[in-house]
Amino acid sequence: MIIRRYVPDDLDGLIALFHASVRRIAIKDYTEAQVKAWAPDDPDRERWTVRRASRPTWVAEIDGALAGFTDLEPDGHVDMMFVHPDHQGRGVAGALLRQVEAEAARLGLGRLFTEASITARPFFERKGFRMIAPQTVSVRGQDMVNYRMEKLLR
Ligand SMILES: CC(C)(COP(=O)(O)OP(=O)(O)OC[C@H]1O[C@@H](n2cnc3c(N)ncnc32)[C@H](O)[C@@H]1OP(=O)(O)O)[C@@H](O)C(=O)NCCC(=O)NCCS
Repeated sequence: MIIRRYVPDDLDGLIALFHASVRRIAIKDYTEAQVKAWAPDDPDRERWTVRRASRPTWVAEIDGALAGFTDLEPDGHVDMMFVHPDHQGRGVAGALLRQVEAEAARLGLGRLFTEASITARPFFERKGFRMIAPQTVSVRGQDMVNYRMEKLLR
């Protein structure tokens, strides 16, 4: 597995990975209507392009194929953490988070925070995040529960 910086040519692969991860993995914890709202069949490519360009994003590659991705906003917010269904449970997210933590240390950030899905909460807990509070968010008309979580870095 290699971890490298996202490049714009990765965009379609990233969107496809996100779609598969939500539809096939997060479906364990959310309804079909919820995952369809979260990862719609007609993604807003322009919005994805702008968001990826606005913050560092890292991808994990296994045998040349995208296996996962994550990002880090300047305030310590980890917006995305998604692993392909074929590569679950093999340390891909752990490796991506190590990259995020290395960058956070370089930037002198004191804290990482995220809104973890029900599916991702055990992963983030395992990696030292604590749950601040559950919350309900509305995504394209669907109410969904996730967890505000944080990890203090110093
Ligand atoms: C959550 C997710 C990113 C985890 O990715 P992953 O690559 O399978 O996680 P890893 O293999 O790196 O796991 C790292 C550690 O977390 C633990 N862990 C991961 N998922 C877990 C779970 N569901 N329950 C318990 N422990 C879990 C692993 O056991 C591992 O522990 P270790 O470091 O002691 O070996 C992945 O399941 C996913 O893509 N989920 C669907 C999309 C999603 O909901 N993303 C989050 C949006 S906020």
